[in-house]
Amino acid sequence: MRLSLLIKNGTLLLSEGARRGNILVKGGKIAAVTATEPNAESFIDADGMVVMPGMIDPHVHFRQPGMEGEDWLSGSMAALAGGVTTVLDMPNTKPPATSVLRLSEKIELINAQTSSGPCVNYGLHLGATRENANEIFGAGLGYPPSREERLAASLKVFMGSSTGDLLIDDDLTLKELLGITRLVSVHAEDEDIIRGCAGSGDHLSRRPKEAALSAIRKLLAWGAPGRVYICHITSGEEADLASPFYREATPHHLFLNDGLMKTMGSFAKVNPPLRSEQDRASLWAALAGGKVDCIGSDHAPHTAASKRMGVEASPSGVPGVETALPLMFNAFLKWGWPLQRLAALTSRNAARIFGIYGKGELAAGFDADIAIIDPREERKVRAERLHYKCGWTPYEGMAIVGWPRHTLVLGEVAYVDGSFSKAKGRSVVYEV
Ligand code: DOR
Ligand code: ZN
Ligand code: ZN
Repeated sequence: MRLSLLIKNGTLLLSEGARRGNILVKGGKIAAVTATEPNAESFIDADGMVVMPGMIDPHVHFRQPGMEGEDWLSGSMAALAGGVTTVLDMPNTKPPATSVLRLSEKIELINAQTSSGPCVNYGLHLGATRENANEIFGAGLGYPPSREERLAASLKVFMGSSTGDLLIDDDLTLKELLGITRLVSVHAEDEDIIRGCAGSGDHLSRRPKEAALSAIRKLLAWGAPGRVYICHITSGEEADLASPFYREATPHHLFLNDGLMKTMGSFAKVNPPLRSEQDRASLWAALAGGKVDCIGSDHAPHTAASKRMGVEASPSGVPGVETALPLMFNAFLKWGWPLQRLAALTSRNAARIFGIYGKGELAAGFDADIAIIDPREERKVRAERLHYKCGWTPYEGMAIVGWPRHTLVLGEVAYVDGSFSKAKGRSVVYEV
């Protein structure tokens, strides 16, 4: 039986606003949010600190089974040290997670890999192929929704090719999938345009913004509002065009621009590519204007060795699960934006969009997945201090405020000041 715990005197990011107060945690859940100090068996003094719902990162690649760069223990540690308490993992592994059986095998793997340490809460996306429509229904992702149990966060569709073999590049299949699925997460880059640009200059010109815009236009023709989540939009134009849909932005498209290819080369190679400074500014403007729903890290931890193969040969993707919340927190603090909006972007909206039961808010009855951040502590991003197996970060040397001191998973302290317990998160439960 877990001890009751009182988080005292913090600035609580509640959905109705930021308020000073206490949180009583019992049996893995938030028992009360209160101005008084109820008795508890232990306490955390959060005076001067910000207490927020742990980040729900809807977009990570933890690479298991079959790939290098991360596993569920290193990934969980990185997530928890970055204030992330739930991740939704992508299916482009080896083999890919394209069936109910592969989803359940992944859960066994997660349990095995985290037996010696902490485990973050998790959900899994199902990968779309041309042939696996029956698995969509098997995973409870069919549309119209039925009341059967849901086993996956969404159906992930790659409209443009990236790491792995998953690709839906014909319009007919795309249209069918959009019609039969209750929630589709899309890597929206138009493969026809990518192929058309294959001969041109560099990585950036081979995957132009037009590829992203064209993919969104197709989704506008066939996708239903409320059932399409667009991953990693890179500009205000995409945010405007995709207005009927849910829209995700990544920290790398918000904090980095295409100039980084000159200094970091393949280490800044990612799909969709980093864009111009103008696009980056327009993405922030979209976020400020309420046109972004979620921050997803798109944590894509390629090994340094594979990135050293040169810009042409190296794979695309950058790691980011441990720095996502601190970077965003730092930016909100710098601009003086209300932190409860950050809590919506990093937690509450993802819980609502993906239908994750009992998470995303600091309120009585919700799971006690909590990040406690000390806004007085500035620290530089250093790869050697991060917990990634891949061992590098594109944000090396950036000084930021927003690192968690404590991260709680289901009421247990999983991370505190650089140390981990064996606190175990669980597979999320979806609302039917
Ligand atoms: O850059 C990327 N890396 N984009 C993707 O869509 C996939 C990801 C990966 O899995 O490496
Ligand atoms: Zn993607
Ligand atoms: Zn991704």
